[in-house]
Amino acid sequence: MRALRYSRYGPPEVLEVVEIPEPVPRPGELVVRVLAASLNPLDWKIRSGHLRYLPGSAGPPRGVGCDFAGEVAGSGGATPGFFPGARVFGTLSPFGRQGTCATTIVVGVDRVAPTPDALTDAMAAALPIAAGTAVQALADHARLAAGHRLAVVGAAGGVGHFAVRYARHIGARVTGACGPDNVEFVRSLGADAVVDYTRDDWRAIGAPYDTVFDTTGHTRWGDCRGAMVPEGVYLNTSPDASSVAATMADALRARFTTRQRIVPIALRGGAAAWRRLASLAAAGALVPHLRETVGLAGVADAMRAMERGHGRGKIVVDVAR
Ligand SMILES: NC(=O)c1ccc[n+]([C@@H]2O[C@H](COP(=O)([O-])OP(=O)(O)OC[C@H]3O[C@@H](n4cnc5c(N)ncnc54)[C@H](OP(=O)(O)O)[C@@H]3O)[C@@H](O)[C@H]2O)c1
Repeated sequence: MRALRYSRYGPPEVLEVVEIPEPVPRPGELVVRVLAASLNPLDWKIRSGHLRYLPGSAGPPRGVGCDFAGEVAGSGGATPGFFPGARVFGTLSPFGRQGTCATTIVVGVDRVAPTPDALTDAMAAALPIAAGTAVQALADHARLAAGHRLAVVGAAGGVGHFAVRYARHIGARVTGACGPDNVEFVRSLGADAVVDYTRDDWRAIGAPYDTVFDTTGHTRWGDCRGAMVPEGVYLNTSPDASSVAATMADALRARFTTRQRIVPIALRGGAAAWRRLASLAAAGALVPHLRETVGLAGVADAMRAMERGHGRGKIVVDVAR
């Protein structure tokens, strides 16, 4: 089988398309023929070695990619509800040695969900990490509802564009902050107001907010609290360890000083989470924007672009190319 792998941490140049033996499933695992994968910033953070000290993280040699969609091709014993040919999507653990940029993977049944007929494999592969993060942040942590005011910082990105679409679907009023090249795109997602952060301050437009969702780590709660209602919720996906620590410290401080709530977001993935995304996507609440589809050999360039930090929607990998 073909797979994109690397044998040392480093820049995109370490990636190689190689032939490797097919993985063998253990009990409770499915063999999945991958039809599409999608890229997340997590993939380049692992490849570059930024996350090498996380406990349980498998170092190189290893594969690339967590999100996938494909077809069941076999299993390691009984896997009720999953038959050969069934369409599924989900994630591999980011800490293992496999990657979804490969023609075949093995994955536990607790990490997959059936792909709805309404979705292509590319659309399903785009969902798990980015849409899962947006929905858990807004629905579970912020309890966003119709009529609430929401600001999304990084509204054009993988997480941000799902956040805008989900929030508009449920009837929230959305201000999207993005760079100049993404203004028209964020408007097309249905945002009520779009603010180019190089020209204007989103905190002065659409405030006071019930929820501020920073998908980029460029703000701190202290920068935003004045633009939030007294019981507002501030959410941050925290791109790096220092941002996680800062948001956690703010969350602790806020408990004793304000009615506002601060939440460092950590996605909880798995079959139940992906089934929920499948229903929301089938209902039209999560429509992925697929900016580009690349083959395995195109992933290095796609990652270079992603590392510049100005992504729009999702990049899908056609692993057969
Ligand atoms: N904690 C978790 O569980 C979790 C889960 C998923 C993702 N994440 C993290 O969340 C971050 C975003 O993920 P993603 O998939 O959405 O990434 P992405 O697709 O690369 O999007 C990043 C966005 O940031 C925007 N941006 C860059 N500079 C900005 C600034 N100064 N102000 C406002 N926006 C700015 C870019 O838009 P413009 O070009 O318009 O500026 C881009 O659309 C990543 O660091 C990722 O690792 C964390």
